[in-house]
Order: sequence, then structure tokens, then C-alpha cells
Amino acid sequence: MPLTRKAYRAAILHSIADPAEVGIEASYEYFEDGLLVVDNGQISALGHASELLASLPADIEITHYQDALITPGFIDTHIHLPQTGMVGAYGEQLLDWLNTYTFPCESQFADQAHAEEVAEIFIKELLRNGTTTALVFGSVHPQSVHAFFEAAEKLDLRMIAGKVMMDRNAPDYLTDTAESSYLESKALIERWHGKGRLHYAVTPRFAPTSTPEQLTLAGQLLGEYPDLYMQTHISENLQEVEWVKELFPERKGYLDVYDHYQLLGERSVFAHGVHLCDDECARLAQTGSAVAFCPTSNLFLGSGLFNLPMAEKHKLNVGLGTDVGGGTSFSLLQTLNEAYKVMQLQGARLSPFKSLYLATLGGARALRLEERIGTLQPGTDADFLVLDYNATPLLSYRLKQSKSIAETLFVLMTLGDDRTVAQTYAAGNLVHQR
Ligand code: GUN
Ligand code: ZN
Repeated sequence: MPLTRKAYRAAILHSIADPAEVGIEASYEYFEDGLLVVDNGQISALGHASELLASLPADIEITHYQDALITPGFIDTHIHLPQTGMVGAYGEQLLDWLNTYTFPCESQFADQAHAEEVAEIFIKELLRNGTTTALVFGSVHPQSVHAFFEAAEKLDLRMIAGKVMMDRNAPDYLTDTAESSYLESKALIERWHGKGRLHYAVTPRFAPTSTPEQLTLAGQLLGEYPDLYMQTHISENLQEVEWVKELFPERKGYLDVYDHYQLLGERSVFAHGVHLCDDECARLAQTGSAVAFCPTSNLFLGSGLFNLPMAEKHKLNVGLGTDVGGGTSFSLLQTLNEAYKVMQLQGARLSPFKSLYLATLGGARALRLEERIGTLQPGTDADFLVLDYNATPLLSYRLKQSKSIAETLFVLMTLGDDRTVAQTYAAGNLVHQR
């Protein structure tokens, strides 16, 4: 295959470490006039344009973006494909919301054509918002995951997804059995896990909707294939936490249910964790598990405020999740806007560089993919964004007052959304152009 080499010139910013570990100044690299060189879908060089240009052949194709910032693609560590059609469902908290809105909406994915239609819309929406990798819940129907992976494969995206396992406490039209969930998940793993840039996640919905038998088989699957992911929900809502205690009285608490069935580990991502206690954070960190912080959902469903400082104290891996359709936006910029407010309400701060970390490298670390995505380091996948400083009149005017990249970044996260994402590149290909 002939070498395809392209270069992109703009202001360039990426996270290189967690500010909680190294301090803010050492956590990022910023090139005011930067150059990103891409060879065959991978980043081959990053630096100051003035220095790098001299080392490149004179005829290299260079795309120059003015008034724009190149960043790594965003990483959404928790989202539900079959809830795309029910974002913004009025009035309920978690358990009633699931019964009233979520389950009926997810039931439509029994229809293959519907699954394919929504998978296309969903992937377009991810890319429009600058999300290049997501950890995705399908519905209970395997066809929801087939449709998603087929659409993602066409664009050579790095994506992770799984079919929901759910064999109790849900309507009959939406439940599987322990055995069928095991067999259907296994077939999806055989078909998709490790194909191109796709990965499979074993996906028990949450403890209340799985029997002990199903949770046992979920743990068994994780042992049968290398590098499988596990995704579920935990301690999102106080009523839910009480319900888990009633359903599993023999366990110490919510996390201990998952621990008992061997669902913790380096590729396990637990959504929400709003009501986790200190010991549970410590155990999650000890097992290398990660939590997806989903601020728009936690506010919309009235679930509570995620305690990020407590997670940091335990060195727990945290990624950012939109949790659409409990969450109200596909935009990780808007998700960071709400994350900032969640910290404010707890008397804490969220620096713009910590926010950038959460949306990029932090998410990559939560998914154990930091060697491939989350930064613009040479050798990694060329998944990156061009953010437009003039996306809206207000953004344009506001950024003219900015005195630093920190201020610019913070304003992008406060005022920015899908309109801010001018271009999205995945594996070096332009996959969205506003
Ligand atoms: N807990 C179990 N299922 C769900 C879901 O679909 N969304 C959210 N936010 N929480 C859940
Ligand atoms: Zn969720």
C-alpha cells in the first residue's frame, strides 16, 4: 500500500498526564502554531510547525486550520445506543424512568431495520460531537450490536460495545435468559471482538436485572477471552442501592455483588458510582476497575453529585460518560460544562486541563487504550478533532477576550457543543465535516 502522508497545521493541545498526579503545568502540551503529521492512519510526528516543517518533504500536503484548535478525539466511556430516541424524557428518577420510557424504547430494537437506522444516526451523532471512541450499551437484542459494529467498521472507528444481559425485573418482551445471554454474547464476541478497531464488552445491565446465574455466566465469559471489557451500572440512585441490598442480602454491598461474580478488573467500567463509599472506591482502584462520571445524567435524573476528589484520593481511573438517554447531550464539551457545576456544588474545582484529561487521556486509561488513543503522541491512532474558535458569534467574541490557552479551553467547554466541532478525523480519515 502506498504511504499516505498528510500534515495539519493549527494550534494543537493534548493531555499527557493526569493533573491530579503531576500538577496542571506538566499535564499537557500546547503548540500555538503546531503541526500534526499523519502516516497511514497513525500519528507520526507532533511539534512546533517552525521546527517540523524543515524536516518534511517540500511537496507534503498540509491543511492549515486558522482560528482553530486540534485536540485528540473525545472518549465517551458510557452511552446507550438504543436510548437515542428518548433523550429528554420528562419527570422520573432512575427506576420509574427505566420502566416508563427506557424499556419500551429499547424494545423497538427487536426489529433489525430499526436497529440499523438508529445505529447510523447514533454514529453520526457521536462524530458530529467529536466522540471518536465510545463504550456503548446495546439493547438486549444482539442485532443492536451487530448493526452498531457494522456501521463502525465501515468508518474504521475504535469502538467498544455489548449486548445487554437482563434476565429478571424487566418486562418479558425485553428479557433474555442466563443461558441465551451467554450464548448470544459469545457469538458476538466470536464475530466482532478484535476485528479491526472493535472490541466487545460483556454487558450485564445492572445487578437488579440479572439473576445470580446470569452474573456467574458473565464472569465466566470474561475468563474465556483475552482483553474483553465489562460494563455495567453501579450506585447511581439511592432507591436502586436499597433494592440491590434487598436482592442480594448475603453480600456486603452493591460493589460486593459484582466482586463476588468476578466482574471487577482492568477492563471493567462502572457507570455513575454517585453513592459509592470509601471502601468501594478503594476496592475498585485495587482491581484496576474504572468509573464513568456522567454529570448530565446524574443531574437530569436527580441521582446526585459524583465525588471526583474521593475517586482521585484512591487513584481510581475515571472517564467521562454522556449516558445518553439518561444524559441530555452527546457532546463531551457540554458534559464537561455540567461536570464543572457538579464540582462547584461540592465546593470543589475542575480545572480546564483536568477536564481535557477526563475527555481524552483519562477515558483512554479507563479503557486501557492509552497506547492507541487519548493523546496525539506519535505512534498512536490518528483520531483527532478541529475545534472552531468562531463556531458561534458569542464564542468568537468571547474568545477574542481570552488571554491564555487555559481560558480558551475553559470557554470552549462552557460555550461549546457540536457546533464547535468543525472536523472529526478517525484513523486519519475525515469522518465528519460540519
Ligand atoms: N441503570 C440500569 N439501566 C440503566 C440505564 O439504562 N440508564 C441509566 N442511567 N442507569 C441505568
Ligand atoms: Zn447508563
